[in-house]
Amino acid sequence: MKHAQRITWLVLGLLMASALPGCVREVKDTHPDQLLTKRKALFKQMNRALEPIGLVANERNAYDKQAFVGYVDELQKLSAKPWAFFTVDGNYPPTRAKPAVWSQAAEFEAAQKQYQAVVAQLAQAAQAGDLEKIKPAVVDVTNSCKSCHKKFRFD
Ligand code: HEC
Repeated sequence: MKHAQRITWLVLGLLMASALPGCVREVKDTHPDQLLTKRKALFKQMNRALEPIGLVANERNAYDKQAFVGYVDELQKLSAKPWAFFTVDGNYPPTRAKPAVWSQAAEFEAAQKQYQAVVAQLAQAAQAGDLEKIKPAVVDVTNSCKSCHKKFRFD
């Protein structure tokens, strides 16, 4: 009986632990323009767009020039999009953006420009079709994601 009780508690604990992140995810976006929901969706798309690029750069997937140009094109289209959703009234929970996004707006914009520049370089390398140039360009892109997150996003 005792044993069964322990298992019941264990199962309950697991259920609660798995329910918690769900609750956090369901926090209502209070902004009439759904800024947070929209920019988060775009960042998720950026993450997904980067995936096939990373797999080729790490030689986990075969390199095919035309397909790769398509992947990079998608990433480049997205590279312009999330920023419009960081308007002055865009800092509200549960954002992971640091206050610096708003207090250091010029630096945040510079980080966007830097990111767009390295994505443009990757697009050039993709057009040239040289995998040995593509690889470091992909590293530059992922470093740019990371460096912006370090300054402007809570982990
Ligand atoms: C110029 C700064 C900047 C760059 C560049 C940037 N991000 Fe972000 N990213 C942010 C900020 C700020 C947030 C937090 C958004 C929020 O919660 O309000 C974020 C959030 C995210 C999230 C979390 C979305 C969610 O559901 O909470 C993911 C995933 C992400 N970024 C991926 C990427 C990837 C992948 C790249 C590069 C290909 C990238 N980001 C480039 C600033 C940046």
